[in-house]
Amino acid sequence: MKDSPFIYGTTVSIHSFTNREDESAKLRSNLLNGINTTIISPRRWGKSSLVEKVIHDINRKEKKTKTVIIDLFSIGSEEEFLETFAREVIKSSSSKWQEWMLSGREFFKKLIPTLSLGIEPQSDFSLSFDWKELKKNSDEVLNLPEIIAKKRGIKFIICLDEFQNLSSFSNYIAFEKKLRACWQRQKSVTYCLYGSKRHMMTDIFNNPSKPFYRFGDIILLKKIEQKKWVTFITKSFIKAGKQIDEKTALLIPLMMKNHSWYVQQLSHYTWNLTHRKATLTTVGNALNELINANSPLYQKETESISTTQLNLLKAVAKGETQFTSNTVMQKHQLGTPNNVIKNKTVLINNDIIHEINNKFEFVDPAFELWFKKQYFNQSYSI
Ligand SMILES: Nc1ncnc2c1ncn2[C@@H]1O[C@H](COP(=O)(O)OP(=O)(O)O)[C@@H](O)[C@H]1O
Ligand SMILES: [Mg+2]
Repeated sequence: MKDSPFIYGTTVSIHSFTNREDESAKLRSNLLNGINTTIISPRRWGKSSLVEKVIHDINRKEKKTKTVIIDLFSIGSEEEFLETFAREVIKSSSSKWQEWMLSGREFFKKLIPTLSLGIEPQSDFSLSFDWKELKKNSDEVLNLPEIIAKKRGIKFIICLDEFQNLSSFSNYIAFEKKLRACWQRQKSVTYCLYGSKRHMMTDIFNNPSKPFYRFGDIILLKKIEQKKWVTFITKSFIKAGKQIDEKTALLIPLMMKNHSWYVQQLSHYTWNLTHRKATLTTVGNALNELINANSPLYQKETESISTTQLNLLKAVAKGETQFTSNTVMQKHQLGTPNNVIKNKTVLINNDIIHEINNKFEFVDPAFELWFKKQYFNQSYSI
């Protein structure tokens, strides 16, 4: 049996990547023309995949442009960030590890990095600094790409994923100012900063009193259109030796509200359950499987919120819009208008609900189906 043509759980930049032509062209042009770019969307819509794809194209065609992608998800401190930043910039500046060792010594004036290489230079190259010195001279690290670029006649594109995580560092406010001050002066380095926590990203980049205000272009990444998903699904089935007709394929983005991750996941389950040709029943069974597989997560999510927040979520699920009207507050036991306002903010900030066309809806379409089944015994069969 051929492998599934659908991928979820990791970024998709080559196989299984679809659409995003306009966004790719815009991002590519921005990054190659020195326009710093911020990308914001809820998680799992496709930011990391888009950036990886564009960077992959740039790496193939632009030999004088060096690229770096750092995921800040697991970086917990300013020190760790600076060390990772320096290491990755040095590594991307040359394909020869001998040159990394030279760069490590050549390009710092005050800082003296400790460099080490293991048996596998590609994965075992490490670099560390004395913390006190690093704190005093963090500019040297932040300016490193500009200095290397000038000396070597190259350019850098630096992509920082889940950028809002920087705000969890202690002393973040001062650090944020320093980042902006260093980065905005650089002529040979372009930054792509993206993240999923929308309220935090918006606060960093759209708040006039914050240093990153007007740092560059902001792309609010949208979902991939339904029609395009249908083409992708039917073609992928054929490529992998099975079939699904357009009407059946349409159910997948329809049920998953065009959410990239879930469209891929439901397509995968459907493909897996298909012998030769997928039917309505196949998609129905696949949907059951998907909800079952995710339900422990959803269970946990609902356990982590308070009763009045849960009630507010129920009101959203019921399609209510006037949350502070007396009838709605009483019917759903939402507490006081103040409770409603506070809880709404909590649910929005935790990316559980968002406002679209003056209406609130669940961010996670599969969670919504599970939720309605769980609390209203509303079936999600198709
Ligand atoms: N352009 C795309 N084409 C097909 N599937 C995609 C695309 N972008 C994202 N996906 C799907 O969505 C999932 C999440 O994408 P990812 O890039 O990690 O999102 P984000 O960085 O916004 O959280 C991927 O694992 C993949 O299944
Ligand atoms: Mg991502």
